[in-house]
Amino acid sequence: MAKAAFGIDIGGSGIKGAPVDLKKGELSSDRLRIPTPQPSTPAAVADTVAELLDAFSIDDDLPVGVTFPAIIQHGVARSAANVDKAWIGTDVDALLTERTGHDVFVVNDADAAGNAEMAFGAGKGTSGLVIVTTLGTGIGTAMFNGGALVPNTELGHLPYSGEGDYEDWEKFAADSARTRDELDFAAWAERLQGYYSLLEFLFSPDLFIVGGGVSKKHKEFLPLLDLKTEIVPAQLRNEAGIIGAASLAHHAAKKGRTHAE
Ligand code: BGC
Repeated sequence: MAKAAFGIDIGGSGIKGAPVDLKKGELSSDRLRIPTPQPSTPAAVADTVAELLDAFSIDDDLPVGVTFPAIIQHGVARSAANVDKAWIGTDVDALLTERTGHDVFVVNDADAAGNAEMAFGAGKGTSGLVIVTTLGTGIGTAMFNGGALVPNTELGHLPYSGEGDYEDWEKFAADSARTRDELDFAAWAERLQGYYSLLEFLFSPDLFIVGGGVSKKHKEFLPLLDLKTEIVPAQLRNEAGIIGAASLAHHAAKKGRTHAE
């Protein structure tokens, strides 16, 4: 089986995809982005995923990895924090496999991005405990021990009990909290300090990797954090989800598995 697969990243505003060269850990052609349909119901999103795949001439047997911003347990969505609630209980693997005719493997978005960072980016060669966080609308997390993913960690939803009416750390410290509460980077970094200190206390990681769109501006906030653990920006940025999902799909297909994890 060629070391290739197709990766698709389903986000709140856009659905992006491209074929991936998994030897290099790079897109093998330009990615295509289609706005996420609103409302983003399962049927509407499945149509957009099919439309995106149709725009590329790829072999029918090329595995397709798809990221989704929710708990994905053996292909089934078990939560819907920032997406349409209709997804809860949907067998996303089955829905997209049926709609597209490709063998589709769905995975949590942070798990996919983290997988790409471990294979090709900031975590390459790190064997201890690594926590990858994506700071965006929510906080996504991926945890690896000895290179192996512990799926669906959801550490953005750790309960927050400090000042203010925030139900969890994601509501308090995600990048969307920075913009919503009009925080400058110094004020936001104070919130991140609390979050990463908590993760550090709970898990004693060897490395934190910080992704999400705002990680482009890592120089504005990472140096302000005081942690025992090394903390570095993600390297693959925008493409991490596509590459990580493609990689998980390739490995799952090769092993004859029906789900990415
Ligand atoms: C969801 C996670 C997701 C993260 C980033 C959270 O609200 O619960 O599943 O990984 O947002 O999109």
